[in-house]
Amino acid sequence: MSTFRIVLLPGDGVGREVTTAAKHVMAAAAELFDVDLEFSEELIGGAAIDATGEPLPQRTLDACIASDAAFLGAVGGPKWDGGTRRPEEGLLGIRKALGLFANLRPVKVTEATLAHSPLKPQIVKGVDLLIVRELTGGAYFGEKKRDAKAASDLCVYTVAEIERVARIAFDAAQKRRGYVTSVDKANVMETSRLWRDTVNRIHKAEYPDVALDHMLVDTAAMRLIQKPRDFDVLLTENMFGDILSDEASMLPGSIGLLGSASLGTRQPGLFEPIHGSAPDIAGRDLANPAGAILSAAMLMRYGLDRTQEADAIENAVTQVQKSGRFTADLGGAETCSGMTHAVIDALSRAFWASRHYSVQQHQMHWG
Ligand code: NAD
Ligand code: IPM
Ligand code: MN
Repeated sequence: MSTFRIVLLPGDGVGREVTTAAKHVMAAAAELFDVDLEFSEELIGGAAIDATGEPLPQRTLDACIASDAAFLGAVGGPKWDGGTRRPEEGLLGIRKALGLFANLRPVKVTEATLAHSPLKPQIVKGVDLLIVRELTGGAYFGEKKRDAKAASDLCVYTVAEIERVARIAFDAAQKRRGYVTSVDKANVMETSRLWRDTVNRIHKAEYPDVALDHMLVDTAAMRLIQKPRDFDVLLTENMFGDILSDEASMLPGSIGLLGSASLGTRQPGLFEPIHGSAPDIAGRDLANPAGAILSAAMLMRYGLDRTQEADAIENAVTQVQKSGRFTADLGGAETCSGMTHAVIDALSRAFWASRHYSVQQHQMHWG
């Protein structure tokens, strides 16, 4: 049996708490399904600045490169504001260094979370969309300048960068409901006009079976609240995707619910909840671990190709939500560790129930 090496990057604030949650759930799934996972932990973000002066130490990067998949909690916090190095540099640095140009952020409203959305149930019922966010280009990575009188962040996109992430979105749509909404600001930005032309060309040449629409980002921000069910795959550039995904987290009701997969053309991918270090609740066992646990499921699915384990983890999260157990962000009284134990419990119950059932079926069949 081969061993999968997983590097854990807890980072800062609630990043530590939710990484512990994800690790325990992955370990439990591995034990049940007989997969060999080997965990190691490395520094990133503020914790790495404190220990080494660098937000992304070479040792961390080397460990990730040698791994099968990496998992990140969150980075940042007020402690490092105004310092010469920022924790966020560590996260941006690792995404760039590993070539993780596509960030998949699924948003689902299940029956279990329906009542917890700040929006009306008739608006959010059945929402199931996937944000495909470009992750290594745009204003995040362009030249930055600042003097006493002005500052600038250059927004650059190359044709090749747009093509490769567009293909990820079209491929995903083919496995879903077959519909891509490409979101840009083509009425103002030159990068967006190149984005739109390039997405159109790839669509016409390679994915005529997928339906494609374009939407301006301001309208998309409105439609996500007005008619969220209209979206299947939402493809967009780095900064628009960052903002729209936090907005979309309010469809199910909390930013603590969304997981993500950051993927490139090679392994390892980086699996990360979309939320930050949540300094206002850090260290108090209050964080919702669902986004991290669902990121762990994505690690199994996309990082290790373990579909069964990924499905089982996702089902266990839904099961716990169905039983009415929620953390404080959704008005519940459950702790981060309590939710984690409940998910592990649901995971193992479902596993043994299915084994028992198949043994019974086997006996019935063979007498
Ligand atoms: P945040 O996502 O950390 O928190 C926003 C709000 O959501 C807070 O009220 C917080 O309590 C709540 N929240 C976040 N995660 C939660 C969870 N799992 N359960 C329950 N509630 C949760 O955003 P912010 O406060 O704007 O940023 C704080 C720091 O995190 C900043 O330094 C920022 O740069 C960093 N950040 C990091 C990441 C990342 O590492 N991927 C993402 C976003 C922000
Ligand atoms: C996210 C975060 C990061 C981003 C920050 C912390 C660099 O907000 O993962 O969504 O903007 O990409
Ligand atoms: Mn963000």
